[in-house]
Amino acid sequence: MKKLIVLSLIAMTSSMAVQAEDLSKYQAETQAVVMPFLKQLGAANQQAIANGGHESAVGVCKEIAPQLAGDVSRQTGWKVSRVSLKVRNPMLGTPDAWEQKALQDFEARLAKGEKADGFVVSEIVEEPAGKFYRFMKAIPLQQGCVACHGTSEQISDGMKAKLKTEYPNDKATGYSVGQIRGAVSVKRPL
Ligand code: HEC
Repeated sequence: MKKLIVLSLIAMTSSMAVQAEDLSKYQAETQAVVMPFLKQLGAANQQAIANGGHESAVGVCKEIAPQLAGDVSRQTGWKVSRVSLKVRNPMLGTPDAWEQKALQDFEARLAKGEKADGFVVSEIVEEPAGKFYRFMKAIPLQQGCVACHGTSEQISDGMKAKLKTEYPNDKATGYSVGQIRGAVSVKRPL
């Protein structure tokens, strides 16, 4: 009897160890895809602002970001998206239950004074549809974002008008630098 318990304990801990190993492997692979994606986005945003001001940078968040996310999804077979608790585009950015909880956890950590730059969550989940690796990384708001996601005083009248016509249900304003605009989310079938 005792032996059985010990044996099953060993089996349990070794399967946990395998999971932990898998998890760090999946996380490393996923980060290797997500980091260049975020870098590319940042660079495209800065270039658009340098070339034609904020009005033309709308294209980066509106077209380039979803397109890049789509490209990465096709190349990897993973679902890569940008999600937020306060979305501008509810069609693309609405979080599912897992993402919503992760975003709320990020908010709670931020409220305790942690910096959002390094917020990451990584987990293997079982769903009726199968087993998935899930990953999320917070996207903190930067100075270059306030012209479109900042306070009313920071957004020009032209931009306000544009946002109002294109996104009548926009929730994605009123942010200040360092707050969490959203997150990159990866859902990877295992
Ligand atoms: C020139 C305006 C503009 C700038 C600057 C801008 N965004 Fe956006 N952002 C938008 C628009 C428009 C959308 C909606 C895109 C769509 O239709 O899918 C959006 C959507 C997003 C989303 C997806 C979730 C949602 O709310 O729909 C995230 C995340 C985001 N922006 C983060 C940022 C960050 C971080 C920065 C700064 C590095 C930034 N944005 C700069 C206009 C902008």
